[in-house]
Amino acid sequence: MAIVIENDEIKNIKNSNSIVEEYSIPNDGGVHGGVAYHDLQGKAVVPGLVDAHTHLLWSGDRSPEVRQRREGLSYAEIAASGGGIQSTVSATRAASDEHLFRDGYVRLREALRTGTTYLEAKSGYGLTVKDELRLLEIAHRLDQMTELPSLHPTWMGAHDVPKGQTKEAYMHELLSKQLPAVAEQGIARSADVFCEPGWFDLDETHDLLRDSKNAGLGLRMHVDEFANGGGGELAASLRVETADHAYHTPMNARKAMAANDVMTGFLPGTPYAMGDGWPDMNSMVEEGIPYSLATDFNPNCQTLSLPFMMSLMVQRCGVHPLEALRATTVNAAKSTPHVSGRPHGCIVEGGVANLNIVDGPNWEAVTLRPTGTPFCATILEGRFISH
Ligand code: NIG
Ligand code: FE
Repeated sequence: MAIVIENDEIKNIKNSNSIVEEYSIPNDGGVHGGVAYHDLQGKAVVPGLVDAHTHLLWSGDRSPEVRQRREGLSYAEIAASGGGIQSTVSATRAASDEHLFRDGYVRLREALRTGTTYLEAKSGYGLTVKDELRLLEIAHRLDQMTELPSLHPTWMGAHDVPKGQTKEAYMHELLSKQLPAVAEQGIARSADVFCEPGWFDLDETHDLLRDSKNAGLGLRMHVDEFANGGGGELAASLRVETADHAYHTPMNARKAMAANDVMTGFLPGTPYAMGDGWPDMNSMVEEGIPYSLATDFNPNCQTLSLPFMMSLMVQRCGVHPLEALRATTVNAAKSTPHVSGRPHGCIVEGGVANLNIVDGPNWEAVTLRPTGTPFCATILEGRFISH
């Protein structure tokens, strides 16, 4: 088979011989008449991967929390003792724009090397109008870089309540100051809320997402990461784009989510880093419920490798490799559509030319290199990038 790409679009998918004839490609390959010809020598090609949930931009070092968890402290206890999100917020506020941009650049290069061609990036480590807008602005600058994956910026001011402020006062600030400023800035495409017992409750999440929708933003949620707080049902009733973690979400809520077109976003990096059990993904397949897989890149879980997530699921949780690939491509693209409005996460004519060339003849190899990259090259919006 051959794939013809024009600019950033897949133009044609055909039998190789007819393409060679149609474009009069000489058998030495190379560039002829403005057409670059790449003979992949039988290597497998899979869609560009879509990372539908990351906390891309932050600064600081939370590594002592690895030890604290092993010494028995919970996520909530670490947060209460001055660690957790609040410590990242302090370090992020103190970091310069250039520092945050440079870290973001390096992280996105790493994501691209492991096949990510599109990535959702949340703010949420600023928690003031100024600092949240700054994180979104830096995401926007990174999005302008043609050699990096394109971004879906999400405003997540409701990630935590800043130190020294009451929940009521912060809710008021979110609704009356942050959200209008974010809408006016025009960079964020979605809003996300950490809907979890101990953080934002169902009523607060409802109010934040209702106003976000009215401001023209798509809706996303963190639900049931540590306990079932009813976030799955709320996600279904609000018909959000994706409800993520969903670790403690009961099956009836997952079914309601699917019936309302809400993607379930599993984030295996969190249980990997935090020492919990794995989500029961195979019951999703039995029930016919689609799900996506994302990295949840954050200070606790510092990997941007979707092949690693796939490997965890396939080799540790009995997930079929095709399900893992579906979860990081077409399903992730459903909750995180390309800004152009064209299909991505799939190989179709008229789709965005985002493709990964597997370093071997079989696509299953994407799950077999958790510590390196299974890809020898990525085509990013039409540009051929060797790894
Ligand atoms: O999705 N749970 C909320 N947010 C992140 C982690 C935030 C943090 O610990 O810094 C998550 O896991
Ligand atoms: Fe997250």
